[in-house]
Amino acid sequence: ITIPKYVTELPVSPPMPVSGQRGGIDEYRIAARQFAQQVLPSGMPRTTVWGYGSSSHSGTFRSPARSIEAKVGRPVRVTWANQLVDKHGRYLPHLLPVDPTLHWANPPGGIRGRDSTPTFTSTPGPYTGPVPLVTHLHGGLSPEESDGYTDAWYLPHASDIPAKYARVGSWYDRYRALFARKYGVRWQPGSATYQYPNEQPAAFLWFHDHALGLTRLNAYAGLAGGYLLRGGPTDLPPGTLPATTGRLDGRPGPGRYEIPLVIEDRSFLADGSLFYPASRAYFDGYPGPYIPYTDVPPIWNPEFFADTIVVNGATWPVLPVEQRRYRLRLLNACNSRSLILSVAADPTARPAQPVLPLWQIGTRNSMLPDPVRVEKLVMGNAYRADVIVDFTDVPQGTALYLVNEAPDGPLADYEDPGEPADPQTTGQVLKFVVGPRTGVDRSAPPETLDLPALAALSPAVRTRKLALLEQELTDVGPVKVLLGVIDANGRAVPMQWDDPVTETPTVGRNEIWEFHNSTADAHPIHLHDTQFRLIGRGPDGTVPPAPQELGLIDTILAYPNEITRILVRFANPGRYVWHCHILEHEDNEMMRPLQVLPKGT
Ligand code: C2O
Ligand code: CU
Repeated sequence: ITIPKYVTELPVSPPMPVSGQRGGIDEYRIAARQFAQQVLPSGMPRTTVWGYGSSSHSGTFRSPARSIEAKVGRPVRVTWANQLVDKHGRYLPHLLPVDPTLHWANPPGGIRGRDSTPTFTSTPGPYTGPVPLVTHLHGGLSPEESDGYTDAWYLPHASDIPAKYARVGSWYDRYRALFARKYGVRWQPGSATYQYPNEQPAAFLWFHDHALGLTRLNAYAGLAGGYLLRGGPTDLPPGTLPATTGRLDGRPGPGRYEIPLVIEDRSFLADGSLFYPASRAYFDGYPGPYIPYTDVPPIWNPEFFADTIVVNGATWPVLPVEQRRYRLRLLNACNSRSLILSVAADPTARPAQPVLPLWQIGTRNSMLPDPVRVEKLVMGNAYRADVIVDFTDVPQGTALYLVNEAPDGPLADYEDPGEPADPQTTGQVLKFVVGPRTGVDRSAPPETLDLPALAALSPAVRTRKLALLEQELTDVGPVKVLLGVIDANGRAVPMQWDDPVTETPTVGRNEIWEFHNSTADAHPIHLHDTQFRLIGRGPDGTVPPAPQELGLIDTILAYPNEITRILVRFANPGRYVWHCHILEHEDNEMMRPLQVLPKGT
């Protein structure tokens, strides 16, 4: 279908409503539901999506979700309900084709994955059972029972779930008991209650589904949203940065001059439904820009690059701006696609000619130590960037474009990222139209901002050498990308999800983790329960980070044929994961468990 660009105004939602406030805790009741949303321009069909909303406030359901506004030091408790049911309370099947040959949150039971992977000759029947969900707060330092462990999934509380599906993930009951012991709160059926302490610096975190082997599908269906953590010693004094003036329901939060931009790529069929590749048959006539390995059954594709850009739940929106400074909170929420963003006057010229710099002041989990003038902003999957764009001197009536030059395919090197995305489609993100200023802009010019200093790097107690590698599993199967360890002889040993835990760091102790990437592509590596620092890159891991790569982060692009070195310290004891944030990789074994040992062990 042909989708006209820049006809829909950028949607900016007010914050997720709180359901209650008790004992210094903000309580939310958030459900995942299925509904129709006008993602395509009005006049075109609506799209059936999954999204989160407050179950105590109707009309708040949206994909991506309204963001949660949290304060440093003030805990947030969320009851995450799986309400993927119809109006009669019967469970809804998945919107997208499930691949039951993966190692996945498999309600009928039994481990598939490794054992069934070589069986590419027969396509398994479609999975039509209820959908497992579990929500993770990405970037949050959450106790293990509240982290949304990928194998702590649960089904909707529906009236018609056949006995053969009546299971929960193997960690669900353990965490339910742990939560009840800790907080005296019992989880209701079809939900999990988590508590986020918010004892970490102000930053733009986000939540999304994390069910084992289904994350790519559940997130693509729409289960994602922002989490804006504010305050604490590292946030800037109010009034310093462009902010809200109370347009949106009067509460603090995103608004007129501080705008979250959640960027996703999606493909649509003519009836407005979401397209995700299921098998070879689906591809005939499909105009998508790039899908590798499409001729290989069964279902899983190593990556998926959709053909349309969606921002805050609308395709190619337009944002009217005033002649003043804006604070953009960017999130790359695409499954596989990296972004290389700049602001240009000509949306199709390549290389793009930036006309306004992006002043980056914050990164994934903290502020940067100094504002950095960035012409082209590289964003791997799950990356966030806090940037100031100054439209003060742009003549009224000018149209500017946020353009993307990362490839319609895997990101290769940072010097040579690959052929840029189609300039007519996925190479464009958003249009700005500059209008007159209303009122005075009291925000500080970005280059004058005094940002909080970073703590000095302290020494590490040990180094772990880890591998990112590719493996041909059979001569007909797609290449699988795996994590592994480097053994004493320097050999990379591939590991799968259900291999024994090999990483057992201790809470509070510094370690250096080295990612040795022998694949041809960059992989955005994400660790739970920590905010780490980049130490070095390059062939031997000694090239120092660029100024915009300083600060606390939870995800780092590891480039091919390089060693990426990070300094990491874990926050809480317990079971967590680390994985590639290309969701298609994560779902097919590019994820490993990790056991954080308590202090003093
Ligand atoms: Cu954003 Cu483990 O995920
Ligand atoms: Cu990967």
